[in-house]
Amino acid sequence: MAAAVKKRSCGASSLISLICVLSLFRGGESVSRKVSRKLSVELNPGSTSTPPGGDLLHVRAVGDNDTLHFLFCSQGAPTLLLVHTNTSSSTVQVNWPQFVARNHSGSLKVEPESSVLDSTAVVFSRLLEYDDVNDTADPTSDLFPPYELQDFSWSRLNLSGPTALLCGAAATFTNGSLCLQLSVFESEGRGQSWPRLLHTANSSQLEVWLDSVLPRATRSRFLLELQAVGGAYPLSRVEVHRSIDDEFTPSIFKVSQWVSSVNGSSDVLGFVQWKPVAYRQSEPALEDATPCRHSDPRPQSGEATAAASGLIRAFYAEPETFGLNVSFGLAGDPFYNSTKFLSWTVLVGSGSPPVDSFSPLVITMMAVGLGTPTILLLLGGVCICVRKRAAASTTTYEPIN
Ligand SMILES: *[C@@H]1O[C@H](CO)[C@@H](O)[C@H](O)[C@H]1NC(C)=O
Ligand SMILES: *[C@@H]1O[C@H](CO)[C@@H](O)[C@H](O)[C@H]1NC(C)=O
Ligand SMILES: *[C@@H]1O[C@H](CO)[C@@H](O)[C@H](O)[C@H]1NC(C)=O
Ligand SMILES: *[C@@H]1O[C@H](CO)[C@@H](O)[C@H](O)[C@H]1NC(C)=O
Ligand SMILES: *[C@@H]1O[C@H](CO)[C@@H](O)[C@H](O)[C@H]1NC(C)=O
Ligand SMILES: *[C@@H]1O[C@H](CO)[C@@H](O)[C@H](O)[C@H]1NC(C)=O
Ligand SMILES: *[C@@H]1O[C@H](CO)[C@@H](O)[C@H](O)[C@H]1NC(C)=O
Ligand SMILES: *[C@@H]1O[C@H](CO)[C@@H](O)[C@H](O)[C@H]1NC(C)=O
Ligand SMILES: *[C@@H]1O[C@H](CO)[C@@H](O)[C@H](O)[C@H]1NC(C)=O
Ligand SMILES: *[C@@H]1O[C@H](CO)[C@@H](O)[C@H](O)[C@H]1NC(C)=O
Repeated sequence: MAAAVKKRSCGASSLISLICVLSLFRGGESVSRKVSRKLSVELNPGSTSTPPGGDLLHVRAVGDNDTLHFLFCSQGAPTLLLVHTNTSSSTVQVNWPQFVARNHSGSLKVEPESSVLDSTAVVFSRLLEYDDVNDTADPTSDLFPPYELQDFSWSRLNLSGPTALLCGAAATFTNGSLCLQLSVFESEGRGQSWPRLLHTANSSQLEVWLDSVLPRATRSRFLLELQAVGGAYPLSRVEVHRSIDDEFTPSIFKVSQWVSSVNGSSDVLGFVQWKPVAYRQSEPALEDATPCRHSDPRPQSGEATAAASGLIRAFYAEPETFGLNVSFGLAGDPFYNSTKFLSWTVLVGSGSPPVDSFSPLVITMMAVGLGTPTILLLLGGVCICVRKRAAASTTTYEPIN
């Protein structure tokens, strides 16, 4: 029995050290192939005046032979649209009278249209609040009427470099607000504050926070409803991956990614990625972390999404939409009223989501902690083998006579 356990733990530890070594190689590889992009930022491209109903931000991220267009808009529900083209000279054309009328598809185009490889959009459609009287964190009971984000009054976009801040409120928020901050990146790196997501030049980060909102009950908890819209391949499934490295996001060992699936193959054209954690303070300590959960993505009415978001209406003729809810807090966690603050961060990008490799610190620790016993075990095994063989050879061979 003890021997069996030993054998298994020996197998597992050599497997883990093998993974370490492999990830060490992969880490080195990704450093040498770092993709960088040249960013240019434009507010309301092609418009001579401030458009009524909300701003449109365009960040052009030009690579060697391709371009990513990041479009962020507050005409209706806040929406981020990513368009990937196969040329470094594609442009965005907006027919402003049609765009602000919000009833024409095709009023925003990426040209030449034949260069468009794929597109992904995320709409922040609703904020939901429920009264968790019994502290069960069941987001289907005692829901208050939802806040439709398309009905909020949104601020103008506040730009600083490739980041943009958008805040909005419903009439009943009094002094509170829901804010979204978009960051686009020139190259690979990691967010400054928790959850410190790893980003690449192919992804943008959106931080969403709910500050000083007057809750409708002392025991209120919140949910956020997201709609993902795609061209041919919408984001239709969520994968949850485990990680044993929590160095950058303390106490969180999982990463969730909402991805497109191309005819059931493992190819991914676009993604929304997050760590299942939100924070109850703007400068959080470990005890301010609160877990979050997501519902399964469900097909939604593309027409309803286009009606809620000016950018979806303008770019997609027939938007294919999947939606999910993210709920913040588990049973027993403090309620929103305890700090009146909640923040959550996602990455939205083109291609495959970034994979966190083990940090050098963790690799070193594992190599020392697990590698040494493995080597000893292996050496021990070899010694025993050699001895047994030696012993066997002395007994099994008959003298030739
Ligand atoms: C970009 O295209 C040029 C010519 O078409 C080619 O030589 C070059 O290798 C390409 N670069 C990348 C990074 O694909
Ligand atoms: C779009 O809305 C405008 C008014 O907002 C209206 O004049 C126009 O006829 C509408 N167009 C379509 C195609 O529905
Ligand atoms: C990509 O580029 C080539 C040449 O510029 C073009 O013919 C093609 O239609 C483009 N689009 C796609 C989706 O490959
Ligand atoms: C809360 O608990 C009480 C008593 O157990 C029960 O009557 C009530 O239905 C519960 N409310 C909810 C929303 O679960
Ligand atoms: C814009 O953002 C900066 C920092 O992000 C902040 O200091 C400034 O007050 C903001 N301006 C407005 C008008 O909100
Ligand atoms: C809202 O802010 C104003 C000015 O900062 C303050 O006088 C008022 O008391 C605040 N209201 C609430 C409900 O916090
Ligand atoms: C970014 O996208 C480009 C074009 O699809 C791809 O060649 C490159 O490998 C991607 N970079 C990363 C870090 O995923
Ligand atoms: C929030 O909590 C405070 C005490 O911390 C309480 O006075 C207040 O009534 C609560 N707010 C709501 C909406 O219940
Ligand atoms: C996916 O399947 C459809 C029909 O089943 C086919 O027309 C299409 O080319 C396939 N796409 C890819 C990328 O394999
Ligand atoms: C989110 O939750 C609300 C309330 O339970 C529900 O009405 C809505 O359909 C959910 N949205 C999605 C996309 O599942």
